[in-house]
Amino acid sequence: MSNAKIGLIGLGTMGAALALNIADKGFDIAVWNRTTERTKAFHDGAGDLASRITPTKTIQDLVNAIAKPRAIILMVPAGQAVDDQIAALRPLLDDDDLIIDAGNANFHDTNRRARDAGDLPFLGIGVSGGEEGARFGPSIMGGGKRQYWDRVAPILTAISAKYKGTPCATWMGEEGAGHFVKAVHNGIEYADMQMIAEVYGMMRDGLGMDHASIGDVFAKWDKGPLQSYLVEISGKVAKAIDPDTNKPMLDVIVDAAGQKGTGRWTVIEAQHLAAPIPAIEAAVVARNLSSQRETRAAGEALFGAAPHHIPHDTVSLETLESALMAGKILCYAQGFGMIGKASEEFGWSLPLPQIAKVWRAGCIIRSAMLDDMATALAEDANRNLMFAPRFADTLKKTHSALRQVVAQGALHGIAMPALASGLAYFDAMRTARGTANMIQGQRDFFGAHGFARMDGGEGHHGPWGS
Ligand code: 6PG
Repeated sequence: MSNAKIGLIGLGTMGAALALNIADKGFDIAVWNRTTERTKAFHDGAGDLASRITPTKTIQDLVNAIAKPRAIILMVPAGQAVDDQIAALRPLLDDDDLIIDAGNANFHDTNRRARDAGDLPFLGIGVSGGEEGARFGPSIMGGGKRQYWDRVAPILTAISAKYKGTPCATWMGEEGAGHFVKAVHNGIEYADMQMIAEVYGMMRDGLGMDHASIGDVFAKWDKGPLQSYLVEISGKVAKAIDPDTNKPMLDVIVDAAGQKGTGRWTVIEAQHLAAPIPAIEAAVVARNLSSQRETRAAGEALFGAAPHHIPHDTVSLETLESALMAGKILCYAQGFGMIGKASEEFGWSLPLPQIAKVWRAGCIIRSAMLDDMATALAEDANRNLMFAPRFADTLKKTHSALRQVVAQGALHGIAMPALASGLAYFDAMRTARGTANMIQGQRDFFGAHGFARMDGGEGHHGPWGS
């Protein structure tokens, strides 16, 4: 039987959820997993959707089960596994069959795979939203030749999240453009999560609040301008109780953050592009640092714990909310700035307003702010988002709160790397006469590198030698 509309390889958490989503939207799908037991368990657990799912025991069976021209989604771990899977699949396929890598690939790998594919159809798509998103509507960022995107767009838009009826699935550009946009999404995700963790730290350590009250604060913020998936789940995480000990879950969870590497890729790429994303960099560094638990404990023993406690009238919860607001705008501004830089550099014409739109629902960084960001980017995609009137107005009202929170954190030994980086970025971007004249003087002094003069001309040298 070769009547499945699409195939999927890899029935891990994301692959299984995506396959159910596809079946749920009325598309027949054939699936294959390296271990047949998993395929069988998946099919057995598919309930009413099982009749639309064809489980297969070999890749050849999978290929045979799909209608031509075929489309097959790979949902396998990023890296070598994707190359291995493509190598195993290609010889079994016709020249117009399409392979879609829907994992969290490094976009450089996707560029290479797209070039290696030559005229053979290949897409790299970023899928965001975790397991629930994959099952009920993720945000989808497509990359590769437009004609191949168009071929599967009916399925991908049908399974995607909808923002007020608009599908959150868009073609971003050639080759690895979709995976690049997904990587920046994850960079912003890291910074957003880190900033939330920092205000959590100020509530817990600075203001001495218990987890239930902190959860209430996040729940309240989630009803205001900070409304977002990450603020919402942070409230739920803060309120959760460990069934084994009856303690708040956050007292039970080890303070060392994991990472699969997408944030790191973003930061490395930003350095190649010379795109300033300091809040995202700070968030990646904070994760690296969080894993050094023994060293941190030794540091506390050596230097003593920081004083932490902040008088309540110094930082109010409203101040914290405003600080998070400012920090969030600045980290999104950095992320979109990086996308703009990459677009120029790689000749991709990345559609910035559409990227903001595609992130409005389904993905991990979905938030109320993104709709306004889409509007601001549609007005002028080349302008830094912090200068768009609606965000400039908010920053004018909130940057002093950010300053207050970062300053109180510094005074009381509460580390706030992402918020502090956001603030430093803000201050740098509103300083017409900075201090790089000193750097240029130093460079010319020790290396005769030359400098531009305020009164005109390049390549001048100072009187250092005389
Ligand atoms: C998403 C997430 C998803 C995954 C990250 C986790 O958009 O759905 O970003 O891709 O949760 O890979 O990344 P870390 O393990 O690096 O935190």
